[in-house]
Amino acid sequence: MALVTSTEMFKKAYDGGYAIGAFNVNNMEIVQGITEAAAELKAPLILQASAGARKYANSIYLVKLVEAAVELHPEIPIVLHLDHGADFATCKSCVDDGFTSVMIDYSGHSFEENIAESRKVAEYAHEHGVVVEAELGTLSGVEDDVNVAADKAQYTDPDQVEEFVKRTGVDSLAIAIGTSHGAYKFKPGQNPKLRLDILAEVARRLPGFPIVLHGSSSVPQEYVKIINANGGALKDAIGIPEEQLREAAKGAVCKINIDSDLRLGMTAGIRQHFCEHPDHFDPRQYLAPGRANIKDIVAHKIVNVLGCDGKI
Ligand code: G3H
Ligand code: 13P
Ligand code: ZN
Repeated sequence: MALVTSTEMFKKAYDGGYAIGAFNVNNMEIVQGITEAAAELKAPLILQASAGARKYANSIYLVKLVEAAVELHPEIPIVLHLDHGADFATCKSCVDDGFTSVMIDYSGHSFEENIAESRKVAEYAHEHGVVVEAELGTLSGVEDDVNVAADKAQYTDPDQVEEFVKRTGVDSLAIAIGTSHGAYKFKPGQNPKLRLDILAEVARRLPGFPIVLHGSSSVPQEYVKIINANGGALKDAIGIPEEQLREAAKGAVCKINIDSDLRLGMTAGIRQHFCEHPDHFDPRQYLAPGRANIKDIVAHKIVNVLGCDGKI
């Protein structure tokens, strides 16, 4: 099977009350860990690359790594998606490189500017058989090109979604309902509650339309503990409770973005390996446990959070 778009995946996910995992990739071991878990569980998969990933690894390396995953696992459908495309030029370059899905993230601009840029991307992408995700509302947290303080973050306004989707022609919409990027989403003692009421209202305004949640890592404490027990210093790292993501996936949310949890898994594996084997210096020895943790984490998400196992 060649790379696919998310059109069919999202339709089945919407109707079936589950979501597809969109996992960030930056190198070979990450691609392998994620894909092996999805293939074993017969789960549809979105592999996504951010601007930072493209800068770190080179876009062509990432495309070829994902193409290798597709060739080795023809049994599952795989999408290659651009995560947080900052502008038309970035999205165009990914369409031209062979991505099958792109995100235009103009959520930090005005409503009208967001519409104009998202529509421009949708027109170009659709001419080339590529699908488009856009964002309305602002998440807090840090991405390479966007750093939004918590007090500047804004929930998505359900009054804007119909006009936005109609005027842009995008294929899916990322909304802000209380998730945020990174491993420090809440302060200790804070109630980590998503605004599922806003999600329900958005879904009412856009029946059948696929909704995306960014910033959806749950920050599994077992990996935080391994990191801290092996020389790390991650204080008060807190994520989104898994049950709330599962609830969202039962409704209109068809794509759930996860990156930070994979970073924690990779780091825990490497740190633990170095502490247990201070004499090792072969990268294959310490990257393999990182890759194994990523596979375990993705398998856990597919079964317990996304509910997309067996849905190919
Ligand atoms: O949305 C943010 C993702 O975790 C990607 O992060 O921009 O550091 O690659 P990055
Ligand atoms: P996390 O930082 O919660 O993993 O979110 C990742 C993300 O939204 C990528 O776009
Ligand atoms: Zn994101």
